[in-house]
Amino acid sequence: MTSLFDLSGRTALITGSARGIGFALAEGLALAGARVILNGTRDDTVAAAARRLADQGLDARGRAFDVTDEQAVAAAFAQWDHDGVQIDIVINNAGIQFRKPLVELQLSDWQRVIDTNLTSAFIVAREAARRMIARGTGGKIINIGSLTSEAARATVGPYTAAKGGIKMLTRAMSAEWAASNIQANAIGPGYILTDMNQPLVDNLTFDAWVRSSNPSQRWGKPEELVGTAVYLASAASSYVNGQIIYVDGGWLAVL
Ligand SMILES: NC(=O)c1ccc[n+]([C@@H]2O[C@H](COP(=O)([O-])OP(=O)(O)OC[C@H]3O[C@@H](n4cnc5c(N)ncnc54)[C@H](OP(=O)(O)O)[C@@H]3O)[C@@H](O)[C@H]2O)c1
Repeated sequence: MTSLFDLSGRTALITGSARGIGFALAEGLALAGARVILNGTRDDTVAAAARRLADQGLDARGRAFDVTDEQAVAAAFAQWDHDGVQIDIVINNAGIQFRKPLVELQLSDWQRVIDTNLTSAFIVAREAARRMIARGTGGKIINIGSLTSEAARATVGPYTAAKGGIKMLTRAMSAEWAASNIQANAIGPGYILTDMNQPLVDNLTFDAWVRSSNPSQRWGKPEELVGTAVYLASAASSYVNGQIIYVDGGWLAVL
């Protein structure tokens, strides 16, 4: 049974993994046997995060690049081609939040949120899938959605549009790539304790609302997403395609 979830011999790129959910997923996949490539916007923090995993005896390396920069993403994949590194698993995790009512929102802020949370998943997965298809080896694409893939909240319009887009982009990837043995799925995390949500945790009213609106009555922890990520990255999900799995403590179930 454990071999179903074994990621030995697989290489996984996890975008936005210098901290938060991405770091927990990188650690979890590495503990399941994968070689992991960490990413973020800064060389120093990406290198430090990779070192934290390597110090545990895990197979980790880092590569900083901006996931919204098509040329930078292409250059990273070209370098891996040159080095003989084949990406078998991609987790499109990099993301940002920006809170403002729609009527006050500048187009540039809308664009930045859409580019980082949605367009980046297309740019990165496209590079990976081209190679998976050419190799004939198949692969795994895991896109990180959100509760806002399903439910809108005030003041996070572009994030909601982007994460709703992630759900349908995941289905579009399945429609085109399933025949090449690529499984594209998404994870929709609930309210998870990370830097992104620190302003919400510090807001006593919001913190109380998160607890009272969730049947689990608490925030989630980044490591609670690892089981689903390993499942979707492994042979255990070989006939699961185009799905989004919510890991939210039951929040959507009682909406
Ligand atoms: N926390 C939650 O409750 C929650 C809930 C639902 C969904 N999510 C989603 O889960 C993912 C991770 O969230 P998080 O809470 O872990 O966020 P976080 O703690 O703010 O970390 C975000 C990560 O993304 C990276 N990143 C941002 N823009 C990037 C870019 N242009 N290129 C490369 N890397 C970039 C950051 O890099 P730097 O370290 O260099 O800044 C950082 O490593 C996001 O997609 C988010 O929308 C989070």
